[in-house]
Amino acid sequence: MAKEIKKIGVFTSGGDSPGMNAAIRAVVRTCAFLKIDCVGIYRGYQGMIEGDFKPMDARSVNNIINKGGTILKSARCQEFRTAEGRKKAYEQLTAEGIDAFVVIGGDGSFTGAMIFNEEYGFPVIGIPGTIDNDIYGTSNTLGFDTACNTVVEVIDKIRDTASSHNRLFFVEVMGRDVGHIALNVGVGAGAEEILIPEENLGLERLVESLKRSKKSGKSSSIVVVAEGDKIGKSVFELKEYVEEHLPIYDVRVSVLGHLQRGGAPSCFDRVLASRMGVKAVETLLEGKSNLMVGIQNNDLILTPINKAIKGESKIDKELIRVSDIMTT
Ligand code: F6P
Repeated sequence: MAKEIKKIGVFTSGGDSPGMNAAIRAVVRTCAFLKIDCVGIYRGYQGMIEGDFKPMDARSVNNIINKGGTILKSARCQEFRTAEGRKKAYEQLTAEGIDAFVVIGGDGSFTGAMIFNEEYGFPVIGIPGTIDNDIYGTSNTLGFDTACNTVVEVIDKIRDTASSHNRLFFVEVMGRDVGHIALNVGVGAGAEEILIPEENLGLERLVESLKRSKKSGKSSSIVVVAEGDKIGKSVFELKEYVEEHLPIYDVRVSVLGHLQRGGAPSCFDRVLASRMGVKAVETLLEGKSNLMVGIQNNDLILTPINKAIKGESKIDKELIRVSDIMTT
């Protein structure tokens, strides 16, 4: 019979994302509600290995639902990738009397949790927290909605100056391997073209499209580029290429970078985080493990962690079509 769960650890891992604090709050308060002990693990797996723990009660998470970042800090931990590192982590968890943990993070964090569960039979549940939205088994990861809102707001500002000077702007957004942010903000902010890793449009098609747009009477344009775009050029090289082949354009580049990860979470992310936090604790107490809490069609669902990380989170092709029509 599975060991009764009396104490749950919670931590954030990998790149931070808005909504992580709301998820920590939800896990801690659900534990308090159900009279289960809860322990915050600082700095992700690194803190787990070092025993950087702090008991948390309902009052430890006051006034954080609205805060970006993560009060538990985050890290990408190389040591946890080794069997020795994971052994240290297991010893620390056992010494602290932690029976199970909730990991809030992305792909890499879930992989660590899955291996740890396989090696030690330790109960784990994942909550998807990354602005990239690249996790299978959920239509939304925590932070994606906020990041898209942040980027749309910034591009609206860039549009003001682009249109005042009749300029073409390449705006680079985050998304190391995926184009979810680029595609959504591209449609939401009315970009002329959207360059994403999943679809290599090629430079010629880009130049043709920009030519067409100039001909159709547009005086300024925004092209959104995902950082992992595979068109083969960096965003600065794209600028040079277009300037060389289309000298009519005055081109500028804006790389938005880490500002996309910060800021107060949107209402959507706060509600999602709260729902996922409750579900994560309840799922552990039902004796289930090695699952990720996700959302599909506004219902919370559970997906085996190995599927969440191995399955591909596909981009929405419908958005590509919509964008193509909108740029007429
Ligand atoms: O959180 C995911 C992500 O935002 C990627 O899109 C990006 O490439 C990466 O994090 C940047 O990570 P770091 O903070 O380690 O530079």
